[in-house]
Amino acid sequence: MRSRRALLYMPGDDWKKITKALTLGVDCICMDMEDGAAANRKAEARETIARALHELDFGAAEKLARINGIGTGLEADDLTAILPNYPDGIVLPKAETPEQVAWVSEKIEAAELKNGWPVNSIRMILVVESARGILNLKELAAHPRLDALIFGAEDFAASVGATRTPDALEVLYARSALACAAAAYSLQAIDLVTVNFRDPELARRDALFGAQLGYTGKQVIHPAQVEPVQSAFTPADDAIAHARRVVETFETNQARGTGAYELDGKMIDLPLLKSAQNVLERARAAGKTG
Ligand code: COA
Ligand code: MG
Repeated sequence: MRSRRALLYMPGDDWKKITKALTLGVDCICMDMEDGAAANRKAEARETIARALHELDFGAAEKLARINGIGTGLEADDLTAILPNYPDGIVLPKAETPEQVAWVSEKIEAAELKNGWPVNSIRMILVVESARGILNLKELAAHPRLDALIFGAEDFAASVGATRTPDALEVLYARSALACAAAAYSLQAIDLVTVNFRDPELARRDALFGAQLGYTGKQVIHPAQVEPVQSAFTPADDAIAHARRVVETFETNQARGTGAYELDGKMIDLPLLKSAQNVLERARAAGKTG
């Protein structure tokens, strides 16, 4: 699966920010028709994103478009404008039921068939950001077109009447539940937005904490957040070196008939091998062979 360490949003009607995003070396570019685009700018957002997909070279960055939620009355026109321009993926916000996911997936498949593109080549990512969405994670995460789940902390807090605080304890249950559902279905987990975008070090700290919870990436809203977030989700050289040693010594010990053994004063057994393999997999996905 491709690396999605940082997923950068910009309002879909903002051509300047879309072209700026192409210069940042960011893994995913998500052009937004939902909350980032004003209610009276939805048509401009559709046209601008369609043009960007058609005309611009996104290089290695993933090109994503976020549609409006199901039931807004905007979602069908969003898809009609975007799909003919072959985005890499569609981001569905406020996902709550498997029927909503199936509906979007059917529209995508119709476009794939109509244009002769491989079925399932346009991926889907869900933003789960409501009490009902969190309760339904098990059903939502099972859809085969999905690559990732995104946790939306601001909408979630609003949906349960919680007050957002800097340490985000009020959303910890939902944030962990999403990481767990993503892992259960081999999906990537993309963490909450750090809204205080003038403090990039805060985005780095939030990203490191998200990574500890099992997140593989994070939503970002400003260029200054890209580097700190992408480096937080890229395993450091010493972590990679340690993971390699765990894999090597595990194999030697298994061959000798030893399941658990000591490395640098710590016990190593199967779960630690799996964690080491995760580190190496993330390093590979981030293009780091080091
Ligand atoms: N993507 C790409 N470029 C961006 C950007 C983004 N999300 N946010 C800012 N930039 C660009 C600006 O255009 C500016 O470019 P320039 O130097 O070439 O002129 C540069 O980065 C510096 O921007 P700055 O002046 O610090 O910020 P701003 O006041 O222009 O914008 C926000 C602040 C919050 C309005 C803007 O970052 C934004 O729109 N973020 C995304 C919001 C969004 O999509 N929300 C919905 C999903 S949560
Ligand atoms: Mg939201």
